Amino acid sequence: MSTGHANRTLLVANQKGGVGKSSIVAAVAGMVAAANKRVLVLDADQQANVSTSDLGVEGDRGRSLAMALQYAEPLQPVRDVRPGLDVIPGGASLALVGAMAATAAQTGMDLRANLASTLDDLCAREAYDLVLIDSGPGDAPLLDALLATARYLLVPTRDDDASLSGVEMLAARYLRARASGSLVELLGVVLFDVNPRATARNSEIVDQVAQLLEGSGANAFESIIRSDRAASVDLRTRHLTPGELVAVASDHQRHRIAQLRKKVGGGDRLWSRDPSGLAGDYQALTREILNRMRAAEQVSVRDGGVA
Ligand SMILES: Nc1ncnc2c1ncn2[C@@H]1O[C@H](COP(=O)(O)OP(=O)(O)OP(=O)(O)O)[C@@H](O)[C@H]1O
Ligand SMILES: [Mg+2]
Repeated sequence: MSTGHANRTLLVANQKGGVGKSSIVAAVAGMVAAANKRVLVLDADQQANVSTSDLGVEGDRGRSLAMALQYAEPLQPVRDVRPGLDVIPGGASLALVGAMAATAAQTGMDLRANLASTLDDLCAREAYDLVLIDSGPGDAPLLDALLATARYLLVPTRDDDASLSGVEMLAARYLRARASGSLVELLGVVLFDVNPRATARNSEIVDQVAQLLEGSGANAFESIIRSDRAASVDLRTRHLTPGELVAVASDHQRHRIAQLRKKVGGGDRLWSRDPSGLAGDYQALTREILNRMRAAEQVSVRDGGVA
């Protein structure tokens, strides 16, 4: 269960793969850290996409997180991967955790208690303004431990049926976590990889999402993340956050013009011409996330700290 120091912890989850979980965690972490806040990214995925590909961290392959989950050993973040941004890497070591969780009852291993206490200790030491948790597709035992520990939940989805059924499965898991005492609150659902001009289609999906989430008290976010395949390739291959890609792209443009003037060709290729639309989407989403967290905190203070 979330405790005092780790109460600004946002889990990004959907049991369906490839719906933007890691991209959103990296982008929001980059935006919040760039605004001079202290941010921790906890990569709870064996694939380690957010730590390795998105943020470019050479990590311990999930060893620190696995040891914390299994034996309550202190979490060891990689520090300042960007100013103010620490990362607990994911990786193959986490594969063992899910398997061991199945026998947790016999071994007495308590993933939830271990995660809650180690994260709380780390947050007490480091005073992060925001903790973002990226989760992998599947891996139900680990996901349940994350749902028991996080204070807030964000669910990204594409607009296809498979992704939406992932939202439905996760909503059911979320309600079960709450029923067993978790304080986790569903902040909302965000549409990922959609056409911003397809407003009729997008609002149809938002309606479907609202039906899926009935009883959870959450709405879809107003901000969406637009499709931008070119930018997404640059982000991952160059390990850049969206804000950094905007800076690199405009630098590139200036450089290209200078090269053309000098009639020199070459230069390493950037696929995206103008990633600022995508970066703007992430900026708007970040603002909306922080506003919704603030609103939830006010309600919780008003109700005497009891959710
Ligand atoms: N704005 C975008 N438009 C289109 N594709 C994108 C966009 N942003 C990211 N992608 C691509 O979509 C794919 C899925 O994104 P991402 O890895 O963030 O999803 P995920 O939910 O974390 O996946 P997994 O469940 O495998 O961890 C990646 O190949 C990524 O490069
Ligand atoms: Mg991912």
